[in-house]
Amino acid sequence: MIVAIDGPSGTGKSSTSRAVAAKLGLSYLDTGAQYRAITWWMLTNGIDVNDAAGVADAAGKPVIVSGSDPAAPTITVDAVDASGPIRTQEVTAAVSAVSAVPEVRARLVELQRTAAAEALAGIVVEGRDIGTTVLPDATLKIFLTASEEARAARRTAELKGKEAQDLAATRAAMAKRDAADSGRKTSPLAKADDAVEVDTSELTLDQVIECVVTLVEEKR
Ligand code: C5P
Repeated sequence: MIVAIDGPSGTGKSSTSRAVAAKLGLSYLDTGAQYRAITWWMLTNGIDVNDAAGVADAAGKPVIVSGSDPAAPTITVDAVDASGPIRTQEVTAAVSAVSAVPEVRARLVELQRTAAAEALAGIVVEGRDIGTTVLPDATLKIFLTASEEARAARRTAELKGKEAQDLAATRAAMAKRDAADSGRKTSPLAKADDAVEVDTSELTLDQVIECVVTLVEEKR
């Protein structure tokens, strides 16, 4: 059972993917965390994230390991816990430039396919290109969407207390990142032709989880 969950930021992808994996006893992989991890490594090692050639050269260097437990997802970079640092605004602002570099994608797609192949009980993999590129033969493909208003409101609430940003700034940063992710040449954010689209704007998180669990059970 391989479940691919794609969509732009703020649609509830991570919360939904983790809850569905936990409910159904499946492994979990957050591919966005991997792109963030490699971006954090580039930033901390003084590599200019806008220098695609430099990023490509360094793409193979960090050792990135993702935990597969949906109740406690972990990610390490060169054996250092990077779960906190990968969520800063600095990393968020830089990640689209790094994730557009083909060498970075090739490296991480290989890790992602290995994780899926090794997950014997099945896995939920979330990202932007899972259904289209990473796992085109996934058992079930979901594409989550939501209005820009709903997505910006959720992201602002998430950031509250951490790195406060107002709604307008969050909305602008999110739109910029989505445009970069959708517009890049190598495997852009896109809905696979055979993905089920779920608009989460008017749904609670529990309703989205329920909907995806039902879709998975129909495939079992
Ligand atoms: O999901 P999250 O917002 O953490 O993803 C961070 C970034 O990683 C995205 O904005 C995108 O640039 C990149 N990404 C990607 N392909 C994926 C998952 C994430 O390019 N499969």
